[in-house]
Amino acid sequence: MHQLEVPLKNNKYTILIKQELSNRFDSMLENIEHYSKIFIVTQQSIIDSVSCNALSKYPTIVIPEGEDSKSISAVESVVSQLMDLGCNRDSLLVGFGGGTVTDFTGFVASIFMRGIDHVFIPTTLLGMVDSSIGGKTGVNNNGARNVIGTFKQPKAIYIDPLFLKTLSKKDIISGFAEIIKYGLIADKKFYNTVKSNFIKLIRLENIDQIESIIYQCCKHKINFFIDDEFDYNKRMILNFGHTIGHAIESYYNYKNISHGEAVYYGMIASAFISHKHGLLIESDFNHIHDFIFNISKVGLNNLDSEKVYKYIKYDKKRMGNKNYFILLNDIGKADIVENVTSDDIKEAITFIANYEYSCN
Ligand code: GLY
Repeated sequence: MHQLEVPLKNNKYTILIKQELSNRFDSMLENIEHYSKIFIVTQQSIIDSVSCNALSKYPTIVIPEGEDSKSISAVESVVSQLMDLGCNRDSLLVGFGGGTVTDFTGFVASIFMRGIDHVFIPTTLLGMVDSSIGGKTGVNNNGARNVIGTFKQPKAIYIDPLFLKTLSKKDIISGFAEIIKYGLIADKKFYNTVKSNFIKLIRLENIDQIESIIYQCCKHKINFFIDDEFDYNKRMILNFGHTIGHAIESYYNYKNISHGEAVYYGMIASAFISHKHGLLIESDFNHIHDFIFNISKVGLNNLDSEKVYKYIKYDKKRMGNKNYFILLNDIGKADIVENVTSDDIKEAITFIANYEYSCN
């Protein structure tokens, strides 16, 4: 078992990672505090694929599948259901699922009767290493992701790595994008271990090793947000590969490309800019792009660099026109850089688009 304490000043909580933890979820939820009622928010696909006593023991609210379910109308519907079921300020909400479920449940918990406690039980690799950790909540509006959101930390996070056995290979590979990201921004040794064992890891051959990887990722993530909970400084480094990655996702209208796949391309593009700025030496850049380009993922067929760039401009506007970009100084070391130009970004997008093209 791996256990981590998140030592936020006003909000200390525990992350527990253990195979077969799911057999004990009900007693663990009941022992956090004395809640009047416990409610689960999940999706039908989770109920169908995961076996766990907590899912049948507590009233369960099912939200639709897919990113589109993160909407204000879905929030209104869930709030009405919670009221009908007698949820009150002493109740506990449990977000049980992938990033969509945890983003959504965290948001509902942060606004229901001005805020009630919540716990996360992530079921995807992406959820276990990133989206359930750190207190960001959000729903979408008019195609813009997470523009309606809050910061609210859960009371606990319970991770059973055996849930990963229910996922497709594509979902596992997608989750590994965030794992590789932690290596690139914070831990060269970890990056090299993941890189050398990649094929074995994505086959989930050694769940003990996967459990340890999840633990190390959670530890890295805590280090990035513990002194910058509200994302004004160090936490922004977690965005490595995401500015271009999000733009690629928007370009494809969030269809046919997963978040992780887009982040893989975003990380190559950011490594390209890092090298162009003289921060990352050529051999490291070559290692990164050889490794990541060769990971099995959807291609960027005929990506229009200008159009992708337009989505980045939109993203920047949301950041108050500040031109922050996360670049690598080395494998395992990243910084926030302000002098990345639009030409740098367009060149990097053209690089990933053309590289992929030449591979087809
Ligand atoms: N996913 C990036 C963050 O939590 O800040």
